[in-house]
Amino acid sequence: MSFKKDFFWGAATAAYQIEGAYNEDGKGLNIWDEFCTAKGKIERFENGNAACDHYHRYKEDVKLMAEMGLKAYRFSISWARILPEGSGRINSKGIEFYNNLIDELLKYNITPFVTLYHWDLPYVLHQKGGWLNPESTKWFEEYTTVVAKNFGDRVKNFITFNEPSVFMMLGYGDGTHAPGLTMNTKDILQVGHNIHMAHGKAVRVLREYVKDCKVGITVATQPKIPLTKDDEEMAYDAYFYSGLGGFAWAQSYWLDPIVFGHYPEQLLKEAGDLFPAFSAGDMELINEKIDFIGLNIYEAQYCGKGDCNLKQGYPHTELGWGTYDKALKWGVLHNWKRYNLPIIITENGISTHDWVHLDGKVHDSNRIDFLHRYLKGLKESTEMGCQVDGYFHWSLMDNFEWAKGYNPRFGLIYINYQTMERTMKDSAFWYKEVIQSNGENL
Ligand code: NOJ
Repeated sequence: MSFKKDFFWGAATAAYQIEGAYNEDGKGLNIWDEFCTAKGKIERFENGNAACDHYHRYKEDVKLMAEMGLKAYRFSISWARILPEGSGRINSKGIEFYNNLIDELLKYNITPFVTLYHWDLPYVLHQKGGWLNPESTKWFEEYTTVVAKNFGDRVKNFITFNEPSVFMMLGYGDGTHAPGLTMNTKDILQVGHNIHMAHGKAVRVLREYVKDCKVGITVATQPKIPLTKDDEEMAYDAYFYSGLGGFAWAQSYWLDPIVFGHYPEQLLKEAGDLFPAFSAGDMELINEKIDFIGLNIYEAQYCGKGDCNLKQGYPHTELGWGTYDKALKWGVLHNWKRYNLPIIITENGISTHDWVHLDGKVHDSNRIDFLHRYLKGLKESTEMGCQVDGYFHWSLMDNFEWAKGYNPRFGLIYINYQTMERTMKDSAFWYKEVIQSNGENL
């Protein structure tokens, strides 16, 4: 089998990266609004105050999605836009914005995929300890309830967290992302446990309030690609290994507890007293059944000659990231083998040096070639029998790339940040053909 008949060909974004309108219509501030005001944190001292102005231009953006033939759109909800104080009072204007966006998508038969948390914690909750505070699991439960009750009649697909490893390690480990903290391992393990618990609570809430919902979590992952058949076992073992060193980046640290109900043994052994106390009830909560695994895949590593970190000397992107044709293939194969759950590629894409050419078009041939290679790999994995339900390109449009600001351009749509004019890049037209042929032309 190649791609399923009802495959979700989509594109993805996140609230802080595209919405703008950071203080409009009653929105509360979040940790990124605040983080960007600190000098030296974001390149060129940029911020998401206006971003792509999607808040005001969502209709135009949905129209472009429809023109591209997208079947699905993944976006995140800004927690502080609907609950300005993080909990308690609901901001009706915020609810109205997402209602309008969802209705607009449905008008064009584009299936909405909602990410609950894409890194923008309400600032007031950060002041109460943020994700280090075990109460955070209750705040998240309340926020999820508001989302479920308001949008669950029309939104059926949910992702609880986006890339917990990244916001945990960059936000609380090395401080390069909001909220900019540098915690010790013990505290980071507590943050991680709280995120796992919050995930479990959100799954329960969604099951309770949203009929026929599908729930998953999205992890950032760098697949291990075996160079030869003989390297396959080593690649698999290295991919799922989790000791204390680098635990947050290990696939098994996030997914083993969720799918199997236990943290990796090696990690528990090495962490000893550093690991937060947890009960059987905690693990039961974390182990709530999910419907799919979301994978965000950009880079990978090659495994061969006894080494599983081979990276050097391969082609790279504008951000200096390596490109790996078989990254999607091996990401899918390995996760399918271990967890046996449907997989959705919730992000994959490339930043390139795009601009509008003299002919008024954006000729991003590198993006097309990159996409073509990665998607061929994805197709192979489906032909080998893995269940893949969708692919979301990162990103629908150029946007605010966190600490890197606006220079990296990941979009299928080019944004002129001076005028906010949108231009579909060549890759958007190419992707449209892929969608129309359901990947048969790859
Ligand atoms: C991961 C994140 O989810 C997204 O916010 C980011 O812009 C892309 N990858 C590219 O770095």
